Amino acid sequence: MDLLPLIEAKRDGQPLSADQLRAIVAAVTAGKIPDYQLAAFLMAVFFRGMNTAETRALTLAMRDSGEVLRFPNDPRPLVDKHSTGGVGDKVSLALAPLLACLGFRVPMISGRGLGITGGTLDKLESIPGLTTQLAPDRLVAQVQSIGVAMGGQTATMVPADKLLYALRDATATVPSLPLITASILSKKLAEGIGALVMDVKFGAAAFMQTREQARELAQAIVALAGECGVKTRALLTSMDSPLGRSAGNWLEVKEAVRCLEGYGPDDLQQLVVDCAAHLLVLTGKCPEMAAARAAVLQCLAGSAPRTKFDELIAAQGADMESFRRQLALDHTAPVVLEVTTPEEGFITRCDARIVGELVRDLGGGRMTKDARIHADVGVDMLAKPGEPFGRQSLLGRVHARTRAEAEAAAVRLRGAFAFADERVDITEIV
Ligand code: URA
Repeated sequence: MDLLPLIEAKRDGQPLSADQLRAIVAAVTAGKIPDYQLAAFLMAVFFRGMNTAETRALTLAMRDSGEVLRFPNDPRPLVDKHSTGGVGDKVSLALAPLLACLGFRVPMISGRGLGITGGTLDKLESIPGLTTQLAPDRLVAQVQSIGVAMGGQTATMVPADKLLYALRDATATVPSLPLITASILSKKLAEGIGALVMDVKFGAAAFMQTREQARELAQAIVALAGECGVKTRALLTSMDSPLGRSAGNWLEVKEAVRCLEGYGPDDLQQLVVDCAAHLLVLTGKCPEMAAARAAVLQCLAGSAPRTKFDELIAAQGADMESFRRQLALDHTAPVVLEVTTPEEGFITRCDARIVGELVRDLGGGRMTKDARIHADVGVDMLAKPGEPFGRQSLLGRVHARTRAEAEAAAVRLRGAFAFADERVDITEIV
């Protein structure tokens, strides 16, 4: 296909037809468009946007670029959750096994890190031996047998998103409402689910910087998913500070496991519980949110969700002995540096953008399409806004490959924090 006239049309602000968008997605999937042309097309979409009909056509074409999952009839509803991307956002890792314990089937298809935001696939792959490349029949069989699978886009499942996602990440074309909507919903619609909860983030480290932009994205996703038969609710959540106390692939797996063991941290647990509770209400399993939250908390207080996590990763090839050994270690990166400050008072800010950038630069994220991820680097034990702070108490720890990298990151981490003499009100996360 000749993409040039379509790039020109989009550059000049003209809408593309469903046939044209289907042709583009087919050519992308067949590998017939060079990256430089595709990058130009993505940038044209970034600046010119897409109308509702174009966004719908792009989403459906991307969904149909591979197989759509088909599940046997079963009383357990098929559900999922997706986030628009944040720093320290390990909600999916804890939520997916929890949902399976609440009587759902969860065929979760996630993505890799985008920009400074982490990706569920990169986090999962920090577990020794684990694969996220699940063929459709394996994914369906695993969900039927243990209630949950966590895979990625493959050559046979939403391959168009796999290709576009990697290119968007390397061409600064992620924060686009139609591209995010199509990327997320193509994956979710290919799962064959009946209900979805969306975590749409806004703030310093989110693709949507303001609450209004996030609301617009949330409304676009909820409306299109609803049209396609998936009951969807969206939470608008703050991404000014990292979620939880860690950011970095393996460190986030550890924190998600601790959350399933009942150790919080509070903001992570709140989001996990709220997402699960919304799905209980959406699917009619609970009449209202208070009862739903109580049911989720009761499930989380037992040992089943933590056991389900092990069952999930074992089913996907994890080397359980290495996983347990790694989990027992304080750190797996070669260098760990504690970051303190002479200040005292109250923490008013921990800037998620600065934290996300420093974790990416330590090797936890990608600057180019094919860059290798270093699973062990990142930050943990982060102090949180609203917490009191005394002289030389810990702001966080940097995990790095070399001392020089750790020292540079420590300076940046210190700069991510702001302090005040008096306690300040911290905005609610949801
Ligand atoms: N998550 C996705 O799957 N795609 C995006 O574009 C952004 C977040």
